[in-house]
Amino acid sequence: MAKAKNKPKNKLWGGRFDGAPNALLEAINASIDFDKRLYAVDIAASMAHVRMLADQNIISQADADAISTGLTTIRQEIEDGKFIFKHEYEDIHLNIEARLTELIGEGAGRLHTARSRNDQVATDLRLWLREACDAIDATICDVQKALITQAEQHTETLMPGMTHLQTAQPISFGYHLLAYVEMLGRDRGRFADCRTRLNECPLGAAALAGTAFPIDRKATAKALGFSHPMAHGMDAVASRDFVVEYLAAAAMCATHLSRLAEEIVVWASHPFGFITLSDGFSTGSSIMPQKRNPDAAELVRAKPGRIIGALVGMLTVLKGLPMAYSKDMQEDKEPVFAATDQLLLGLMAMAGMMGDLIANKEAMAAAASHGYATATDLADWLVRVEGVPFREAHSITGKVVALAEGQNKALTDLTITELQSVHANFKAEALAVLDPKKSLAAKTSLGGTAPKQVTAAIAHAKKRFLS
Ligand code: ARG
Repeated sequence: MAKAKNKPKNKLWGGRFDGAPNALLEAINASIDFDKRLYAVDIAASMAHVRMLADQNIISQADADAISTGLTTIRQEIEDGKFIFKHEYEDIHLNIEARLTELIGEGAGRLHTARSRNDQVATDLRLWLREACDAIDATICDVQKALITQAEQHTETLMPGMTHLQTAQPISFGYHLLAYVEMLGRDRGRFADCRTRLNECPLGAAALAGTAFPIDRKATAKALGFSHPMAHGMDAVASRDFVVEYLAAAAMCATHLSRLAEEIVVWASHPFGFITLSDGFSTGSSIMPQKRNPDAAELVRAKPGRIIGALVGMLTVLKGLPMAYSKDMQEDKEPVFAATDQLLLGLMAMAGMMGDLIANKEAMAAAASHGYATATDLADWLVRVEGVPFREAHSITGKVVALAEGQNKALTDLTITELQSVHANFKAEALAVLDPKKSLAAKTSLGGTAPKQVTAAIAHAKKRFLS
């Protein structure tokens, strides 16, 4: 274990200490390796703060100018990869302040007037998440665009709609894809709600109790694009429900993507053969030359592991934390960054896969005509035309299916005589409803799979999501 004695004291709070930090304290305490990603928002918040301090005559305009110039230099150094991040300065806030001191001397010490790292980090994270919400929104929109573009080409492409992964009723491929456009639309709504709620400014709460300096919290909130200052100092520094909300939105979105990813895996599998993924999104096997593996889809399917993990991890950190700030909260950043990176990557991969996959219409249509997908249409015919109560019609049609199954036939292969052997009321016109295309065209109710409804749904989706 490192001998504390020989090392220098911490320059930023060493006043109260005789010894230097233990190396293990530095190891567990330092967050700079990950929170350096906050540098741009940290500098933006510091600039707003220092300008306000000068406008309120808390520090001089000359000090404020020197600090702003120094911060601009630091931002450039970081962007040019020239900034040296140091563990001894723990986090991004102290690393920037230490470098500012090197650059402009003692005046740097005035930046932290009427501020604490507690309100500083809460402000930074809200700013960072605001940008992340915008980036995610745009990327979800790309996935919706890819889905809608595919859907437009497949309003009449028959496929078996499934429940319990068993053939249920004929639908179109376009109709199927539009379901995800809706789910993703709600995901965007969740990020938008989260963004609105998190867009209030903690800056000026200081450590927890506010400050005796005559600061103008409304000015800093406005300068940083927040809707207003947060109402309560302790809440401002100690609350991370905005992080939980964000991760919950991310977890839901990742879960939606994983369901679509699973469908892609199934559809691309040889027995299904409903779709072919482009070469760009298929991998080969090192041993089996025939393979085209949907690795990207499998990884999108797996991403909720990490993203839900981030959500549960964050809730677990917060549970039972007393007011106000505790260092536990530093654990908020890694899950946020990881979830954001993984979600954005998953969304981009999904947009890519969706954009250039090929639907194999014949395979889908063949599957739609097997599995007795139009049995319900036959039952409906008995209800509609013959006035048979639905339950009875269901039972009669069940016998028709059993008859077809016994003869190893599709429903469309049955003759009218065979139908009438089950129930005398069947007429020749009943055979027509067994055609999957007719079944599709008949589902004209609002939100149904009939091509003309799907065309209308595409226009409606474009208006809501792409304009
Ligand atoms: N790196 C810290 C965090 O992320 C900054 C706040 C530190 N505050 C403190 N009182 N030690 O939470």
